[in-house]
Amino acid sequence: NHPHHQHQSGSTPGQNPPGSQGLSTRRELYERDFPVYKQPVEVGCFSLDSERRFFNDSRQMRYYVEPDRNPNFDLRDGYKDRFIKRDDSVKEKLDHILRWIVANRSKLNSRVTPASSCALDVDFVTWRGHLTKLLTTPYETREGWLLAVTRFRGTLYISEVETEAARRERENRTERHEEMMYWGYKFEQYTCADNIHSLPDPGGVVNTNEAFCTVVQTRLADHRLLFSGEVDCRDKDPNAPAPPACYVELKTSAEICTPKQRSNLHRFKLLKWWAQSFLPGVPRVVAGFRDHEGVVVSMETFHISKISHLIKNEYNCWKPTVCMNFCCDFLSFVKHVATEDNPSVVYLFSWEPHRDVTYSIHRDSHYSFLPHWYVEEMTS
Ligand code: A3P
Ligand code: MG
Ligand code: MG
Repeated sequence: NHPHHQHQSGSTPGQNPPGSQGLSTRRELYERDFPVYKQPVEVGCFSLDSERRFFNDSRQMRYYVEPDRNPNFDLRDGYKDRFIKRDDSVKEKLDHILRWIVANRSKLNSRVTPASSCALDVDFVTWRGHLTKLLTTPYETREGWLLAVTRFRGTLYISEVETEAARRERENRTERHEEMMYWGYKFEQYTCADNIHSLPDPGGVVNTNEAFCTVVQTRLADHRLLFSGEVDCRDKDPNAPAPPACYVELKTSAEICTPKQRSNLHRFKLLKWWAQSFLPGVPRVVAGFRDHEGVVVSMETFHISKISHLIKNEYNCWKPTVCMNFCCDFLSFVKHVATEDNPSVVYLFSWEPHRDVTYSIHRDSHYSFLPHWYVEEMTS
């Protein structure tokens, strides 16, 4: 058995029940048939404006405009004088998704049978980004995570808690790293227009408060999921397929000059890109490859459905089935552990590389994340 199954996190008011062990993240345990993952269905969307205000509509949707063969986008342009950065010390938890749920409850309670045991007809509500972290966990060797879970009216809400290590990294980023984080957003500005008739405006301000988010419903094995994720842009052709199939994910990455660099892209970056877009059913990633000075020198489209074939040539590479089976087993573990239905109880699941997933239980603590306005709204 795994030598680390006894590991428990530091200050744990609660304890794992006797005989229960953590959940292993060893890859070989998850190499079985690909689990059922239903085609994700978009059930709504919302927008966050330049001041991070919520709107129950698609006002922040942007439209992909295919660039020239030799783009020459200078990603450093505007970093000093045309950049408004979101304050990432503000933790929004699930608040925007909860606001969307309150505004769209009628769309979700399709089964109005009195026998229905939960207020929402889903088992889990979370951010797509949290699920992406779960999918990549069996292959992650550097960064651990903390996920807070609350069971409320039969639904399990999963909200990330920043680890100490992540907080230290965030507070001690180098100037180079800060600037490179801007590059990804600048690339979006070079390739996206505000409506189907306009063109990108590289002279404008980059404001990372702005976001367009899709809300999708799907099922992973017996887990009914409702989650939201930020979408970079969509195909501007009005005859493009319905969301999420018309969505496009944009990425930047270092230019590829050697076979080794191509192999590393497949082994490490494509894992993250695949996990992020596969979950909401976004079919393609458009990558801009940049040199060390931050100039995009080439573009490449990756179709999510073809990534699993692309990586089959890599030795000792990641496998989509391992990602999905681990996520599925983690959700089963959560259902089994988080049994008390109480909006002020948090089951805190924690994981560090080379360890098992463990948990602790917290009542009325600073980990509680369901806001009173949401609890009241859903109780009435
Ligand atoms: P790139 O990844 O293309 O460089 P997303 O690709 O998910 O839409 O995110 C947009 C940009 O936000 C990224 O662009 C990157 O610059 C920045 N970003 C996203 N997640 C990040 C993270 N975990 N750490 C640092 N920067 C991040
Ligand atoms: Mg994005
Ligand atoms: Mg992107």
